[in-house]
Amino acid sequence: MKSSDVRRKYIEFFKARGHVEIPSAPLVPENDSTTLFTSSGMQPLVPYLLGESHPLGKRLVNSQKSFRAGDIEEVGDNRHTTFFEMLGNWSFGDYFKKEQLPWIWEFLTKELHLPKEKLYVSVFEGNKDVPKDEESAGIWKKLGIPDSRLFYYGVDKNWWSRSGEPDKMPAGEPGGPDSEVFFDFEKPIHDGCHPNCNCGRFLEIANSVFMQYQKQKDGSIVELPNKNVDFGGGLERLTAATNNDPDVFNIDIFFGAKKLLKEDKKNVRVVLDHVRAAMFIIDAGVLPSNKTQGYILRRLIRRAAVHSKATLQVLNEFIQFYGLPSSEQISKIFSDELTRFDAVLEKGMKMVGNVPPFDLFQTYGFPPEIIQELFKQKGLNFDKYDFEEKFKTHQNLSRTAAAGMFKGGLADQSEQTVKLHTTHHLLLASLQKIVDPSIKQRGSNITAERLRMDFNFERKLTPEEIKKIETLVNEKIKENLKVSRVEMTREEAEKIGAQMEFGHKYPDRVSVYFVGPASPAGGPKEEYFSAEFCGGPHVSFTGAIGRFTIMKEESAGAGIRRIYAGISTDETSKPNPESLSTKTGD
Ligand code: SER
Repeated sequence: MKSSDVRRKYIEFFKARGHVEIPSAPLVPENDSTTLFTSSGMQPLVPYLLGESHPLGKRLVNSQKSFRAGDIEEVGDNRHTTFFEMLGNWSFGDYFKKEQLPWIWEFLTKELHLPKEKLYVSVFEGNKDVPKDEESAGIWKKLGIPDSRLFYYGVDKNWWSRSGEPDKMPAGEPGGPDSEVFFDFEKPIHDGCHPNCNCGRFLEIANSVFMQYQKQKDGSIVELPNKNVDFGGGLERLTAATNNDPDVFNIDIFFGAKKLLKEDKKNVRVVLDHVRAAMFIIDAGVLPSNKTQGYILRRLIRRAAVHSKATLQVLNEFIQFYGLPSSEQISKIFSDELTRFDAVLEKGMKMVGNVPPFDLFQTYGFPPEIIQELFKQKGLNFDKYDFEEKFKTHQNLSRTAAAGMFKGGLADQSEQTVKLHTTHHLLLASLQKIVDPSIKQRGSNITAERLRMDFNFERKLTPEEIKKIETLVNEKIKENLKVSRVEMTREEAEKIGAQMEFGHKYPDRVSVYFVGPASPAGGPKEEYFSAEFCGGPHVSFTGAIGRFTIMKEESAGAGIRRIYAGISTDETSKPNPESLSTKTGD
């Protein structure tokens, strides 16, 4: 089957069961400094899993662009990719296990025609806080799954939250037991093999998470008011199963690109994966750099370049396959990075032998694969053991940093972040009123310390303009305006000129945040100070914000300006400029 058929069948199947389709959220989350990339379909839906009502109802379905940086080193086998599309359906306190599991079974066996005898399932075996999932096991048995194909696993395999097992979940994070479906490719055959074995015989193709718990500050796990379903299935893996071929790189998405590569299988997979992921990351507005998302992008491009000289052709093939509109811009950003990497390599060749090998990796950004090769070419001794030890330490540190970046759950809804989020709306409206009404937001990032806003404008702002903007935002804070959330159709929201987030596709029903009295569609615009398409959360009254200060205004590329701004509760204290930089995570 073609991947587009699998995607379409899935969406249609759940639409026919009362689900509303929502667009894929941006790959780089807006207004969420706790994580670098969207890595699952549920990530943008956390507030609704925690109980907030979604404007489109209690049943949603979509295909979500997802990226998992943690899987970079795994790429090369038959099933790991960093970028993938996740097919997802959600119930926010509506249907639960007895609907979800039979539906998934029906979808897999009737829509995708997967042979029943090749499907294995797993359920949660229980732990100290949550009982064994007998209910799911009973449902699977009723559907005809024999005991020989039904497996029980513990928290390491059958518990899902964004941060993993219950012990690793931060306070506020939702999670729950899950039930997975595996496809059996019937080889390799070896003793002791089971669905979660690492040999590659089984492929996990479907994961129904029963999101019904939340971690508390005291470490306990309590039931959420709603029993939710959060389903995720990798489009690439599901397509591979329909072809009865365990290699996800043999599906239609990769056909054209693969023909351009002559390298061995493992290297081809790395190039295919990394170039496709890099393309979507650039498409999400990221440029290669040494920080955060830009650093991951740089690593993907450089790792791919080490494995093949044809990366640019591969990129163009993917751009065509997916029909991305900004194709020229993506190619240019990608090829500029290749040029930069060539220069680094040339410089690096001269350094080989003069600096320790690990410095070439850490300080100069050389991929480990190429360092060894450089050393070999020059006939120099390469201490592989020492390098690998240092590399392991570095990986552990990166993982810790990534965990710090991703605190999950309510961490991104800290009081300060929420205040800055409302301030962000005030700032955009002020820029439009004082500088130019045609200014639009082109990107944003909010940490607990400061906000960053990119917007389209050709020149530097004058000191007078900056002063006026600060004064207007502070006036609106002093006026203690009400902030309200109104659900309406996208058309209505567009009609009243509500501001949209850049690069965001909106569903038919949206939530709009107003600062100042909310105005219904067609009502006088003057009544409110700002209206934006937004999922929140926000302060209830602007008076809670504190004093607003613009810390920096600079260029962020051709025709794009960037403002860093902060708030302080004490009138005399200024926000800390140290907080202008974000941490690097992996
Ligand atoms: N959140 C779960 C996952 O990512 C199911 O959607 O696997």
